[in-house]
Amino acid sequence: MPTTSPALQNPNWLLKTGRALRTPTRLMATAMVLSLGLAAVSQAADTASALVKVDDASFKCMRQMTPVRHFYVDNLLGDISATLAAANAPKGALYPTGSVVQLVPTEAMVKREPGFSPATGDWEFFELDVNDQGSKIGKRGFAEVNNRFGKNCFACHAPAREPWDFVCESNHGCEPIPIDHKMTGALQRSDPRCGPAVPEDGDFMALFKLRAMVTIGATLGWFKSLF
Ligand code: HEC
Repeated sequence: MPTTSPALQNPNWLLKTGRALRTPTRLMATAMVLSLGLAAVSQAADTASALVKVDDASFKCMRQMTPVRHFYVDNLLGDISATLAAANAPKGALYPTGSVVQLVPTEAMVKREPGFSPATGDWEFFELDVNDQGSKIGKRGFAEVNNRFGKNCFACHAPAREPWDFVCESNHGCEPIPIDHKMTGALQRSDPRCGPAVPEDGDFMALFKLRAMVTIGATLGWFKSLF
């Protein structure tokens, strides 16, 4: 079907617009609304032009990021203080563009440009392969990325959408993960990108349990994929 302009599809649209513009006050008001609208558009374009480029080099030793409670944050556009302000807002806040949030070395959330992915609040989810040479992006994306246990990142983080901007922590309404802070701490302290591990008491056991869980999780995923 050929596309027609809204005015041709619905002549009332043109009439209504004409009527709305008839009086000078209305005309002024329309002009003001239009110019305000334009100002908003150019502001959005400024923020949007600050593109967040994310590649393997965007990720680094977790312990060189900035610690917040039991996780770490960074900002790829350099505005770490805005990211920290959001992370520490007592009633939650939207994280600024460029924010990186990590709980473990192999998973990350990065806040992309405004409008990039409205459904996920512009967060992009990453699964990383890390070793002493650095990071390699495994999976990346928005609503479709799953973790190593075969569960969907976005679906699980969604309950924390408001007012926590999808950041789960311990009490923002997300389904819990089977990894406690002893384990996440042990993973942070043994991030291979940071050089030698700096283990605390109990880290060895925590990592041992975690490895067993991941193996079982991966085996289960493989088993389910057969049916
Ligand atoms: C089954 C639910 C679930 C799934 C699936 C899941 N997460 Fe999470 N995630 C959580 C919970 C709960 C926390 C907070 C854990 C804590 O701090 O005790 C969390 C924490 C995080 C954090 C630290 C910031 C925060 O939200 O507290 C990041 C970053 C993160 N997850 C990224 C991911 C990525 C990337 C994926 C997919 C590859 C993923 N998550 C999959 C539930 C999940």
